[in-house]
Amino acid sequence: MKTYAIALIPGDGIGRDVTDAAWTVLEATAKQSGFALSGTTFPWSCAHYKETGAMMPADGIKMLERFDAILLGAVGWPAEVPDAVSLHGLLLPIRKGFTQYANVRPHRLLPGVNGPLKTTAFDILCIRENTEGEYSGAGGRVHQGTSAEIAVETSVFTRAGVERILRFAFEQACKRRKKLASVTKSNAQKYSMVFWDEVTRLVAADYPDVECTSYHVDALAARMVMAPESLDVVVASNLFGDILTDLGAAIQGGLGFAASANINPERKAPSMFEPVHGSAPDIAHLGTANPIAAIWSGAMMLEHLGETKAAARVMAALEATTSHGIGTVPGKERTEAITAAVLSRLS
Ligand code: NAD
Ligand code: IPM
Ligand code: MN
Repeated sequence: MKTYAIALIPGDGIGRDVTDAAWTVLEATAKQSGFALSGTTFPWSCAHYKETGAMMPADGIKMLERFDAILLGAVGWPAEVPDAVSLHGLLLPIRKGFTQYANVRPHRLLPGVNGPLKTTAFDILCIRENTEGEYSGAGGRVHQGTSAEIAVETSVFTRAGVERILRFAFEQACKRRKKLASVTKSNAQKYSMVFWDEVTRLVAADYPDVECTSYHVDALAARMVMAPESLDVVVASNLFGDILTDLGAAIQGGLGFAASANINPERKAPSMFEPVHGSAPDIAHLGTANPIAAIWSGAMMLEHLGETKAAARVMAALEATTSHGIGTVPGKERTEAITAAVLSRLS
């Protein structure tokens, strides 16, 4: 039987609950579909940091190399470990280390979800650059703690990095409605974003069938709320993509519904699948985290592994669940109850 090796990194807070939920559903789907998933859990998290002084071992990336994919919950417990330490010690090095340069985040309404735009039919695929830009980590502070302090955070955009994410986005647009929105802020950021717009025009020449429009990120944010049905594929830099995809989650009905895939398109390293949301410390002790985003991310993992039918099974079970109103009202059901409802609808 075909067996996929999956690295599980539940992480912190609700990351643990939603990873458990996704794994339960994925294992059941695999069984029905005639393949197996072999999971290895890594306890890397803020608790691990407190025990060992590191979010993951120094050779953590090497340890993940052999896996077919990584399923992650959420990282961060800011009350005990500063976010800059936890995220730069685990999540961001995996994205960068495995050149998962395409962060794919679908935004559409599941049936029965009572989102703020529930009467609008939208289907947006956000493609977020995931390895450079505003997240380069380059910068510093001088005159720290004095009134003369200056902090600099340098965005780094390389031609290779911008071109590959744009090509990836154009390819996605070709498979969909052939519309691409490229997002910048080139009216204010005269180097990096003007550069991004230039590369967009160059790459667009190779995709004459795709209608490509450049938007400023502020205008695009408004459009996502006012006219989301006018958008198909949206491509943006790391930070703009981060912000726009929480907005995307909001129009889907909340962070509990937004899935994501960190893809290494060349398949030279494992890709990683995780919900858009974080560890949600405010509800972490309640047992009511919505597992739908994590389960949907798991479906994206199956799709990436080539198990298309199994992925469709998971999505159908999710839709059957939400169309009965289950998992659609934040905090109403327990995580396990939503998971059981999805499991019972797998067929
Ligand atoms: P968050 O996404 O954890 O929470 C934002 C809000 O959404 C909270 O009110 C939370 O209760 C709610 N929410 C999130 N997921 C939910 C779910 N599945 N079901 C129901 N409600 C849900 O964002 P935050 O509070 O800014 O961040 C908390 C921590 O998580 C921080 O340490 C942050 O850096 C980290 N974080 C990690 C990731 C990741 O690992 N990919 C993503 C975002 C934030
Ligand atoms: C996300 C998260 C991360 C990001 C944080 C936790 C570093 O917000 O995956 O959207 O900004 O990429
Ligand atoms: Mn985010």
